[in-house]
Amino acid sequence: MTEDVKIAPSILACDFLRLGEQVASISNADFVHYDVMDGHFVPNLSFGLDILRQVASSTDVPVDAHLMISNPDAEAVRYVQAGASMVTFHMEATNHAHRVLHAIKDAGAKAGVVLNPATPVIALDAIIDDVDMVLLMSVNPGFGGQSFIDVTYRKLRQLRALCFERGVEPLIEVDGGVGMDNVADVCAAGANVIVAGSAVFRSDDPAKVVEDLRQAGRTGLAKRL
Ligand code: DX5
Ligand code: ZN
Repeated sequence: MTEDVKIAPSILACDFLRLGEQVASISNADFVHYDVMDGHFVPNLSFGLDILRQVASSTDVPVDAHLMISNPDAEAVRYVQAGASMVTFHMEATNHAHRVLHAIKDAGAKAGVVLNPATPVIALDAIIDDVDMVLLMSVNPGFGGQSFIDVTYRKLRQLRALCFERGVEPLIEVDGGVGMDNVADVCAAGANVIVAGSAVFRSDDPAKVVEDLRQAGRTGLAKRL
């Protein structure tokens, strides 16, 4: 498989009163990144299953649901049923990551785990063979528009090394504070799926930003050793 850069605009940064129009404006994206916040695992509320159903049925772009919720064991499969093609949940939110991953896959979607900035990559050691994607948070989850935390670069290199050692190639996604100024470095360090909220939706031309991020990410990919 030739590795390429995928772009996943986060609709958390949308104008919610124009949500349909804004989702339609990124039809050239690889995923729609759908941030679910429960006001408990993270100190903010966003949207849940009903809006996911409407978003997923309005677009051909697969939906990547990022569950920032306290009880993924009970809830993750419902997001598959509501139309998500990829469901990721936080390692910090469950004692049963292996079980949740396989429940998502059995329900028919791709499955991934998320690590907060303070959670070490070694936490993935026992489940790296079971994941379709790893999401490294590059901000503390809960809000859009925050600054990128630099330790993410080191974690990306550690994650690439772990995947290489184990002979697996999950997608590697980075989420938070990524834009044109750092996307090349993030891809050079190991990411191949880029979440971008503010960078895409706080611009006049979201589709152009998606393409520009992809091109800049590819220059980073080409610089990898
Ligand atoms: C943060 C969310 C992100 C966020 C990214 O908790 O998981 O997906 O929307 O937004 P930006 O790109 O603005 O940092
Ligand atoms: Zn997210």
